[in-house]
Amino acid sequence: MTAKHLSDTVTLHNGVAMPWFGLGVWRTPEGQVVEDSVRYALEAGYRHIDTAALYANEVGVGNAIRASGIPRNEIFVTSKVWNSDQGYDQTLKAFDATQEKLKLGTLDLYLIHWPVAGKYQETWRALERIYEEGRVRAIGVSNFQGHHIDTLLAEANVVPMVNQVELHPLLRQTELAEYCRSHHIQIEAWSPLMQGHLDQPVITTLAQKYQKTAAQIVLRWDLQRQIVTIPKSVHQDRIIENAQVFDFELDDEDMQAIDDMNRDQRFGPDPDHFDF
Ligand SMILES: NC(=O)c1ccc[n+]([C@@H]2O[C@H](COP(=O)([O-])OP(=O)(O)OC[C@H]3O[C@@H](n4cnc5c(N)ncnc54)[C@H](OP(=O)(O)O)[C@@H]3O)[C@@H](O)[C@H]2O)c1
Repeated sequence: MTAKHLSDTVTLHNGVAMPWFGLGVWRTPEGQVVEDSVRYALEAGYRHIDTAALYANEVGVGNAIRASGIPRNEIFVTSKVWNSDQGYDQTLKAFDATQEKLKLGTLDLYLIHWPVAGKYQETWRALERIYEEGRVRAIGVSNFQGHHIDTLLAEANVVPMVNQVELHPLLRQTELAEYCRSHHIQIEAWSPLMQGHLDQPVITTLAQKYQKTAAQIVLRWDLQRQIVTIPKSVHQDRIIENAQVFDFELDDEDMQAIDDMNRDQRFGPDPDHFDF
């Protein structure tokens, strides 16, 4: 069923509730800018923030969440272990550093940021330990193709709860989403707004038809396709706008028109060919 409110959640395969809609903070500068962005989002009703060690803004994210006065257990926070910190011992240290920066106690979701060859299986063992110790409520992966997950599952004790991947109308990820569904792994879209490349004729036409903005059309499509989505903005008006997607419904034909935009076009790196 499609989410009806900004705080509505999907239940991950271990029973943890994850809001369908969140704020991304990649490229949001540490300090006042990230603190303001998170504050705008929480004031608008967001209850899910997506950061990463790489984004170098975990201190600000934690500050803004603590300053909000909203009970900690009402906000879902994700962070990720960066590539240069992968491996068993280094990941345990990286998690300590993330917790120290966020100062939020138990984390909600910790992800392997990218499938670094030769490392990610060991990294996963560390995530399993952190999970078993109760220091994080859910663990998952990011930028994993089906074959990466197959490799992981060959030795894993815990099936990832989430796979966060680049996903938007130009990169539908149909097969990967189906793979994840069949393994009860929730798919989550990064760069849902195509990093701002919203000037697409199909989207613009639908925006006029529904009297919504291009961003709202794309984010509504995510929700109706059961995809967790985390648009980023540093602007209060856009943070509010992006979340106003619970008061209309795209009909089947228009959902199909957006599906048909797929060109397998990435704005970010290809998980099978990255060198960082
Ligand atoms: N796991 C990974 O490897 C990975 C990779 C990339 C991203 N992510 C996560 O996914 C989140 C979202 O992806 P993203 O930041 O790459 O891109 P995005 O959310 O697709 O797009 C963000 C861009 O769109 C602009 N924007 C936001 N709302 C808008 C609106 N209503 N109208 C027009 N433009 C708008 C933003 O500008 P302003 O900020 O100036 O408003 C920014 O330039 C990230 O922040 C991060 O948390 C994860």
